[in-house]
This record gives sequence, structure tokens and C-alpha cells, in this order.
Amino acid sequence: MSAERVCGVSELEQDMPIRVEPSGVPITVIKDAEGVIHAIGDTCTHGEISLSEGFVEGDTVECWAHGSAFSLLTGKPGNLPAYEPVPVYIVEIDGDDVLIDPTVTKEI
Ligand code: FES
Repeated sequence: MSAERVCGVSELEQDMPIRVEPSGVPITVIKDAEGVIHAIGDTCTHGEISLSEGFVEGDTVECWAHGSAFSLLTGKPGNLPAYEPVPVYIVEIDGDDVLIDPTVTKEI
């Protein structure tokens, strides 16, 4: 599978996660304070909560349900109760297009 357009760069506001679903795979896309765009699995590994509803703090997104904060770089939670990482996806930018291949995750 190749990368799919999931949104426009211009649609992303700093630290405001959005949920996208390329090929039905739920992914949270976040533009951080430095303008870097990240893509991680949208479903918290502790429960069926969308991380796109969470709070971005630096390079983490915190699940609103019980407070586990997942790294945007590694997908790993920095605190309990979640202990399993979410996948991290490779983001490609082509003009204003944000492209993600949901079948390819970064090896962390
Ligand atoms: S559901 Fe996310 S920390 Fe519990």
C-alpha cells in the first residue's frame, strides 16, 4: 500500500490533534509547537479512548480518561495506567498534503 492523503497541512492547528482513518486505521495527527507533524495510533492502549480527544503537552498527548501521556516520537506512554505503546507512523508532506501509509509503522 502507498501513502494516502489524510488532511492538509493548512488544516492543522498547533497542538490540536485530529483523527484520520486512512484505509480504516484510526490515527491521530498532531502539529507540534515547532511545526513538526506527527502521526500515532489513535486508540489509547489502556481503553477505547481516542487520543485525538486528548491534550498535547510538548511532545506528548495525554489521554483524557486516566492521564497516560504518549510520546509523539516513540508512541510509548510515560506513565501508568497504559503501559503498551501506540504505533508511530511515517508522515510525508507533499505541498499542502499530509500523507500516511497506515501499513507502515516506525521501528522504535
Ligand atoms: S483509557 Fe487512556 S489512560 Fe485509561
